[in-house]
Amino acid sequence: MLNLDDALKFAVATARESGALLRDYYRNGVTVKYKGEIDLITEADHASEALILNRIRSTYPACAILSEESGASANSSPYMWIADPLDGTTNFAHGLPIFSVTLALVVDDVIEVGVTYNPIYDELYTAQRGQGAYLNGERLHVSSAATLDRALLVTGFPYDRRTNPNNNIRQFTDFSLRAQGVLRLGSAALDLGAIAAGRLDGYWEFKINPWDIAAGCLLVAEAGGRVSAVDGRPLNLYARNVVASNGPLHDEMLAVLTPSRETWPFLPVSD
Ligand code: IPD
Ligand code: CA
Ligand code: CA
Repeated sequence: MLNLDDALKFAVATARESGALLRDYYRNGVTVKYKGEIDLITEADHASEALILNRIRSTYPACAILSEESGASANSSPYMWIADPLDGTTNFAHGLPIFSVTLALVVDDVIEVGVTYNPIYDELYTAQRGQGAYLNGERLHVSSAATLDRALLVTGFPYDRRTNPNNNIRQFTDFSLRAQGVLRLGSAALDLGAIAAGRLDGYWEFKINPWDIAAGCLLVAEAGGRVSAVDGRPLNLYARNVVASNGPLHDEMLAVLTPSRETWPFLPVSD
């Protein structure tokens, strides 16, 4: 039986270590390659992932691992570490300091521990299920915005948006017309951290991956917010869509997403 307090300490230490490495690459510059037409990868993504995998394998050899660049490990275990070694690679490659390393521990599909770290702002988000969410040790609470009129939202778009009709452009327009504002900041993990911190009020995204949102969904829930699939069903990390909010906004957000099912045949949202 794995001790969850220790797992949180391990995730914090690993995120800080990987964050320091990302910071060095960020300051010294990196070579950029392309995974797809607009999907970047840098040596920092690989180096950060190698560090994280190493640390997990030596401290938790029996745990399964799912990470962005290496995929899923062969071993099956109810304990799974989920990692994005660099969330916000496009920002990182442009010299924009909105990126993070994010790590979560999931036990039997329940997110127990989540950590997201922005090494440039030195902002460390941490959460353990049932024990609250924190930013640099300060307890977090979601905002109290009650209507979309008063809400600053954030979202993201898939890398295959030029060819995939389920590209969130229509929903982005819908929310832009209803909310106070809609941002695209480029790191889903930090978007969710910002909702937990009450800096932003709601987030949704399609074609999102478990490593982008696992830690952040726990942060939002532990800060008193609400997280679900875009059709209102319980969050499924593998369903590739998510809505997270401060709570009061959630139903209004779902209502904006729901009519689009009728006029937008490409929902519900899988690949
Ligand atoms: C991306 C970021 C972005 C989100 C994309 C993700 P990456 O992750 O989280 O905010 O909109 O869906 O793929 O590629 O920078 O690790
Ligand atoms: Ca990511
Ligand atoms: Ca990534």
